[in-house]
Amino acid sequence: MVPTVEWKNGAVRLLDQSRLPGTVEFLDCRDYRMVAEAMRTMKVRGAPAIGVTAAVGVALGAQAVTTTSYDEFAKAVTGICDELAATRPTAVNLFWAIERMKRKLAELRTKPLPEIKRALTEESQRILDEDVAMNKAMGKHGAALVQSGQTILTHCNAGALATAGYGTALGVIRAAWEEGKKISVLADETRPVLQGARLTAWELMQDKIPVTLITDSMAGSLMKQGRIHLCIVGADRIAANGDVANKIGTYSVAVLAKAHNIPFYVAAPHSTIDLATLSGDKIPIEQRNQNEVTTLHSGPSIAPAGVEVLNPAFDVTPASLITAIITERGVFKPSELSSQFSA
Ligand code: MRU
Repeated sequence: MVPTVEWKNGAVRLLDQSRLPGTVEFLDCRDYRMVAEAMRTMKVRGAPAIGVTAAVGVALGAQAVTTTSYDEFAKAVTGICDELAATRPTAVNLFWAIERMKRKLAELRTKPLPEIKRALTEESQRILDEDVAMNKAMGKHGAALVQSGQTILTHCNAGALATAGYGTALGVIRAAWEEGKKISVLADETRPVLQGARLTAWELMQDKIPVTLITDSMAGSLMKQGRIHLCIVGADRIAANGDVANKIGTYSVAVLAKAHNIPFYVAAPHSTIDLATLSGDKIPIEQRNQNEVTTLHSGPSIAPAGVEVLNPAFDVTPASLITAIITERGVFKPSELSSQFSA
């Protein structure tokens, strides 16, 4: 798989996911504002990838700050953090990564500025490397829940493309496949931005993992026919009580899975767990532009001009519908998360 985000010759290189699957093209960002714009316009997307991208964006921005005073430097870097944090509201990985960069900045306050700049870049690379390592650990834990011969439904893209590499939900699928399990995947197309059709289908085909694309409305009927054995999705934020915010449509899949007695798993690293948010109804849900709904991937309009449109990008699945949450530390019931992940 091509990397989603990396440091390349002093620039931040992002895979432009808005052009997939047709075109594999990279954006070389030499200014943190370009990184922020790529996040806002979803050229890079997926909760862990957004977090990692913000971290490298902070480091990139910090490198360009010209002052000799720590206080002025810290003020400028904090401003960069604020701009990057304002790009998307729901995925908590964004705020988690930015807080980590701010802690590093404060920790090094007595050091010379060139050293601080270097340390911020190193910290961003550590965040990136740790993300891949967590996904691989998650994959191993989750693969134990998957049996040969099973068909797995996934929603949106929680793959290598949504992370720094390997993926969360698709990481579990990848690990099961690498263990030799004969599995297949049903990918929900995931209206309106089509992360399932454009990204999940592409990513799994790259790795030759059997995948079949379906529209979002087909899942219930396929479950009734016994053609789906389990569901695995990612998460953008998990509240302390185990409620999960993820791509719009996830809640519907969870309700359907419950009605058909099919296990429904969420795969996410600790950077997605937000114990400060007590329950899902407190998670901010991003509302996006209506054009995403009235067109198909920026094509001609498919709706009458002037129609009222709703476009919440995420929904909340209550803990009661979730069989278990797969993390890098193991597999837990939603109710166990707060004790497992409290500091
Ligand atoms: O709007 P997106 O594409 O950033 O939303 C992505 C999702 O909802 C993913 O399922 C989630 O971030 C988990 S990615 C490992």
